[in-house]
Amino acid sequence: MCGIIGILGTTDVAPLIVDGLKRLEYRGYDSAGVATIDHGRLDRRRAPGKLGNLQAALDARPLAGRTGIGHTRWATHGAPNEANAHPHSTPRVSVVHNGIIENFAELKRELEGYGRRFESETDAEVCPQLITHYLESENVGPVEAFRKAIARLKGAFAFVAIFTGEDNLMVGARKGSPLAIGRGEGEMFLGSDSYALAPFTNRVTYLEEGDIVVATREGFEIFNERGEKVSRPEMISSAADALVDKDGHRHFMAKEIHEQPEVIAHTLSRYIDAANETVRLAENAFDFSRLSSLTISACGTAYYAGLISKYWFESWARLPVEIDIASELRYRSVPYKDQGGAIFVSQSGETADTLAALREAKARGQKIAAVVNVPESSIAREADIIFPMAAGPEIGVASTKAFTCQLTALAAIAIAAGRQRGTIDDMEERRLVRALLETPRHVAEALRQAGAIEAIANDIAKARDVLYIGRGVSFPLALEGALKLKEISYIHAEGYAAGELKHGPIALIDEELPVIVIAPPDALFEKTISNMHEVMARGGKALLISDRAGIAAAGDGLWASIEAPTVEPILAPIVYAVAIQLLAYYTATNKGTDVDQPRNLAKSVTVE
Ligand code: M6R
Repeated sequence: MCGIIGILGTTDVAPLIVDGLKRLEYRGYDSAGVATIDHGRLDRRRAPGKLGNLQAALDARPLAGRTGIGHTRWATHGAPNEANAHPHSTPRVSVVHNGIIENFAELKRELEGYGRRFESETDAEVCPQLITHYLESENVGPVEAFRKAIARLKGAFAFVAIFTGEDNLMVGARKGSPLAIGRGEGEMFLGSDSYALAPFTNRVTYLEEGDIVVATREGFEIFNERGEKVSRPEMISSAADALVDKDGHRHFMAKEIHEQPEVIAHTLSRYIDAANETVRLAENAFDFSRLSSLTISACGTAYYAGLISKYWFESWARLPVEIDIASELRYRSVPYKDQGGAIFVSQSGETADTLAALREAKARGQKIAAVVNVPESSIAREADIIFPMAAGPEIGVASTKAFTCQLTALAAIAIAAGRQRGTIDDMEERRLVRALLETPRHVAEALRQAGAIEAIANDIAKARDVLYIGRGVSFPLALEGALKLKEISYIHAEGYAAGELKHGPIALIDEELPVIVIAPPDALFEKTISNMHEVMARGGKALLISDRAGIAAAGDGLWASIEAPTVEPILAPIVYAVAIQLLAYYTATNKGTDVDQPRNLAKSVTVE
């Protein structure tokens, strides 16, 4: 999603803004721009495509000025060209925006009626036009004009504005999309997240819903939706410590796949008492013995992690689980039960649909927990309980280590739920905890298949379509495998419950179609292998992912196989995830796609 940076600095800020925007590249974008105030004069440079194009525009015509704003745009309204790139300006004000303004069409008509002329197709441009309208027609100052403009906007957004003639003023607003203030020494910063601010300061204050900040180099004031002056806590952000480099890998995604043994171990350390082989949850966590029901919701990969955990909560805790995609859940009239709990899963903690579903469940009396990677995020701050995942910053758009850390956290929580509800005894808890503690080692072992998987991926790269199948906990992993492949290699892929094949998808099978069969040797192994033989009998190319015994038991005729370590079958998704991630990664690198920033995708989806 769009990235925002604003700086009231002590030297020329354009180069600093471009550096900050580089740290926001992971969010996904298709154009970028910078505006500065120099001796009271507003000027800007914008360019479609990657930041290199903006840098070239700045090299050709540098921008001076100690006050500036910058933006990476992920197009929603209007093509990703220079005219639609932010900042959007009038001669009086320049504005950057993240989010969507729902009533922009009617505001645009109104402003055109006053004679104002628009130069882009974006929804964002109504904001500088409205501010200018109030500056000129009502003779108010910049802050009041900004406040009046924001009050007219409907939707979910964050804005930052700078003004002609105002070298020591930057104003920002948050409604639906995050915005953070960074305090420096005689400098002030605004940014979409703490990673953007990390090169400049670790003293970060998050705006709350409806807040407006008025910043100068000396300090800032925050006003809530009713215009009352408020104070918000300052936090010391850990983002500054985050190493945002590729550590010798070609892509962030490769680095993040290989970090998994370590980050899974970190996540385990938040939940497991290794000496006693038990799970310990924070004191304020759910009392699972009293929960009437559990709702789980998320988007994309985080949703698939939730779907796998449904099997765990049902199997170990005998707890009824309602699970849905957040964009659906938020608009369903769910008959929530009294004493119900809800878990929302999110790497970024800023996904708009997940946040909206959380708020709806909260309003309907559910106790809210978040499995979240960014502790300062909106979802973390609005939840009653935080279940941390210690994945560290995930920069690649395709989620990898966050997925396995989400699974790790959810597995530990589900084991604790089983103990609290008396549906597993302490021996079973110890057995499961021992199995969980083995996962970092098993994931490291799974990574050793990288070379073999790369060779298979070179063939997958020639396919037009790919099917993934699995049963039980391997069914959501099949969905995740298909998502991973399609998002970074652009090959069409579908995941199916293996038992569902003969209800339609089997019609697709021919000698061109690779079918990836995820089958750890569990209670459903034989059934999945039967489905695989149905594929092979129709000339399909079966690629089996199983352990050595599973591959041997599957018999002859496989097109290919990937050997996974032997693991506790119900926890297999945490380890088998490595194979599907590497398969997608090498397929994409073979095709030469932009692995870390695939087309059309954003890392953090802060619009609906
Ligand atoms: O930050 P979140 O975990 O809430 O993000 C949810 C999805 O947008 C995310 O998992 C997306 O599906 C990834 N690109 C998948 O790799």
